[in-house]
Amino acid sequence: MGGLVNAATAALTPTHRMTLPAATVPAHVAIIMDGNGRWAKNRGLPRIEGHRRGVETVRTTTFAARDLGVKMLTLYAFSIENWKRPPEEVNALMGLLEFYLKQELATFVRDRVRLRTIGRTDELPAGVQKVLRTTIEETKQFTDYTLVLALNYGSRTEIVDAARAYAAAVAAGKEKLNDGSWTTFSRYLYTADMPEPDLVIRTSGETRISNFLLLQAAYAEFVFTPVLWPDFTKADLAAAIADYNRRERRFGLTSEQLVNPARAGAK
Ligand code: IPE
Ligand code: IPE
Ligand code: MG
Repeated sequence: MGGLVNAATAALTPTHRMTLPAATVPAHVAIIMDGNGRWAKNRGLPRIEGHRRGVETVRTTTFAARDLGVKMLTLYAFSIENWKRPPEEVNALMGLLEFYLKQELATFVRDRVRLRTIGRTDELPAGVQKVLRTTIEETKQFTDYTLVLALNYGSRTEIVDAARAYAAAVAAGKEKLNDGSWTTFSRYLYTADMPEPDLVIRTSGETRISNFLLLQAAYAEFVFTPVLWPDFTKADLAAAIADYNRRERRFGLTSEQLVNPARAGAK
């Protein structure tokens, strides 16, 4: 059961304290939103029309996830590799992003949604950066629910950026190389203060990760759905969560240890 995540995590903590699973809703859901282009093509429409409809799904999914009890929703909106698309499409996507953010600011404030980003946002167009700064600043006090947009994001770049920052910290005497651990290193990732995703969903039938949260999803559950992103509904999200709940997250332990955490090893 997905709810055993708490039990398994507890079994791995140094204190070995056991906590009963409080809820089976994944706290952090991450989505690779794919299929906008095909959605448009199926209708004889330009690709950008698919992206426009995709933005509507971003809106509905933001609130659907919260209604279902999710605490953090990360959406892969633009990858580093997406810059290689035709310039008209890239420009249209950036325009849509700016328009969406400007429109949503009031809604985020009213509905207490905190916005944050992961990715090299300093390489985005100035207009997008400006509205991002405003929205992040004006929503930073909301702690119940967070929407994370992965923008100009790529895991490999993230790892390189983190390694560089970590090396600089070692050189400056702020970190000791010999003390290096995952806990220390992960503080240099874009996701430093975020929990790892519990559930990663990809729409459109593709079954690849496309450079998304490679390290953070080390123990995530994956759900692949054939639904194209513009058609993705709250029911599809609920179905993915139900699927997650049928899984047993073992984190390297045995099933028996999850049932009886006293049998978990000491390390
Ligand atoms: C996802 O839809 C949106 C982005 C990657 C920005 P696609 O544009 O990749 O849609 P398909 O894969 O071509 O159908
Ligand atoms: C992944 O989708 C990136 C985003 C959803 C932003 P792509 O459509 O770019 O991925 P590939 O090229 O099919 O792997
Ligand atoms: Mg695609």
